[in-house]
Amino acid sequence: MSGISLKGIGVFLLLVLVVLCSTFDVCDGRRGKHWRHKKAPYSSLAKKKGKGKISGSYHRGRGGRGQWSPKPSPNNSPGKRYPRPAAPKAAMFDVLDFGAKGDGVTDDTKAFEAAWAAACKVEASTMVVPAEFRFLVRPISFSGPYCQPNIVFQLDGTIIAPTSSKAWGSGLLQWLEFTKLKGITISGSGIIEGRGSVWWTNSESDVDPIHAKLSAKMPEIKPTALRFYGSYNVTVTGITIQNSPQCHLKFDFCDAVQVFNITISSPGSSLNTDGIHLQNSKDVSIHHTDLGCGDDCISIQTGCSNINIHNVNCGPGHGISIGGLGRDNTKACVSNITVRDVNMHNTMNGVRVKTWQGGSGSVQSIRFSNIKVSEVQTPIVIDQFYCDRRSCKNQTSAVALSSIAYENIKGTFTVQPVRLACSDSLPCSGISLTEVELKPLQEHYHMYEPFCWQAYGELYTPTVPPIVCLQTGKPTSNRIQSDHDSC
Ligand SMILES: *[C@@H]1O[C@H](CO)[C@@H](O)[C@H](O)[C@H]1NC(C)=O
Ligand SMILES: *[C@@H]1O[C@H](CO)[C@@H](O)[C@H](O)[C@H]1NC(C)=O
Ligand SMILES: *[C@@H]1O[C@H](CO)[C@@H](O)[C@H](O)[C@H]1NC(C)=O
Ligand SMILES: *[C@@H]1O[C@H](CO)[C@@H](O)[C@H](O)[C@H]1NC(C)=O
Repeated sequence: MSGISLKGIGVFLLLVLVVLCSTFDVCDGRRGKHWRHKKAPYSSLAKKKGKGKISGSYHRGRGGRGQWSPKPSPNNSPGKRYPRPAAPKAAMFDVLDFGAKGDGVTDDTKAFEAAWAAACKVEASTMVVPAEFRFLVRPISFSGPYCQPNIVFQLDGTIIAPTSSKAWGSGLLQWLEFTKLKGITISGSGIIEGRGSVWWTNSESDVDPIHAKLSAKMPEIKPTALRFYGSYNVTVTGITIQNSPQCHLKFDFCDAVQVFNITISSPGSSLNTDGIHLQNSKDVSIHHTDLGCGDDCISIQTGCSNINIHNVNCGPGHGISIGGLGRDNTKACVSNITVRDVNMHNTMNGVRVKTWQGGSGSVQSIRFSNIKVSEVQTPIVIDQFYCDRRSCKNQTSAVALSSIAYENIKGTFTVQPVRLACSDSLPCSGISLTEVELKPLQEHYHMYEPFCWQAYGELYTPTVPPIVCLQTGKPTSNRIQSDHDSC
């Protein structure tokens, strides 16, 4: 009797299953693992999956498991896949499930594109680049105008750049690009490896013939490794970005940016490899980060305001710079920048503001505080005659510099402690120095004295060495800026 009824129930369940499986496109039943109430081994299941399909273990159909029912929400319209109950918002899209090989040789670009296309459709989803794999990825754009918000790019493996010139066409501005996203996070312990050495040796003069031959075909335009454009609420954390052909990490037209606990690393001799480059971006915080590269550790360009940088190590590199601004008679606006609690070791400059002659606009409300320097060529620099060509012609207009505070800047220098070279026609005003103590690394070598030109402001405490060249008060010859110049 009981045997028969059990059999009946069995048949009934089987029928239910068949109906469910023919109704929903994703169903555990197809995998023969259905109705098991033990946890499925998610990762191994996912890896066995075929190419280009979303893993059923992460995206169960409604019929997959009977023990929970998802609450409908605006983002979970009928026919969409529901996340598993343990983490109601964790839709995961692993690049391996989209056909990526991760062997460091196979071109995995298509798999990354497919995984992104899937992640893009789900709010707060996660695109997974798993640990212990090396993914060769060609230049790619993770483009977002139509993506759902708050996507996480979980990077635990390594992404490597192609080194053949073919992959770069006639030259691209970036390798990995995230654009027009609302809420984008890159996190994990993974590595973005630019393999930039083939690009660094491009200038003919200082290259041995073998390297010159190898790099001869790389395009002249060098890409930034990782670039964010036009995005809001961006976080980059945990990862390492190394050996970029040019700049490592760039933010352009971004608002509300958090960068912390990352590492940027390339040799001090690598040409033009900025660490982090900010342009037209607001409300940016960069902290607890190690930056070593061949150019500026952080470069702040026009259109930036409310930038807060703290607890950063810089070196090797050229220091932390605002500018060069005003190149080719352009207008530049930079304000409210704080740089504090920074260690600089073996860098060309410490904290620097550089502008080209002929620019307009202004740099104001800048604070450099608690900067420890060791073996830094010139720790404090304002250079309003910046020129990276052989010569630049003298021009009267300039980016106006005002309200720049230097507080507690201590350590050793190797060339000159302070160099404040301001515009003749538009002198710097409101420069303040407090607790500046800079000692030559080797006492007996010839060093340059502090230098000031058209620099006005105040010493709040005595300095080491004494800075007698700063002019007190306000510049009398200060040209009135036209409305056209004001920011
Ligand atoms: C910013 O992004 C985080 C992480 O993606 C998210 O939790 C938060 O809600 C977002 N904030 C806003 C104001 O959009
Ligand atoms: C920093 O990132 C690493 C991964 O690179 C992670 O293991 C570590 O927990 C993170 N530290 C903090 C304080 O977030
Ligand atoms: C200056 O920037 C900081 C962030 O670094 C921000 O908290 C503050 O409100 C800004 N001040 C002004 C006047 O915008
Ligand atoms: C520009 O002006 C500086 C200082 O007045 C002067 O030493 C320099 O020779 C001038 N350069 C050119 C190219 O005229």
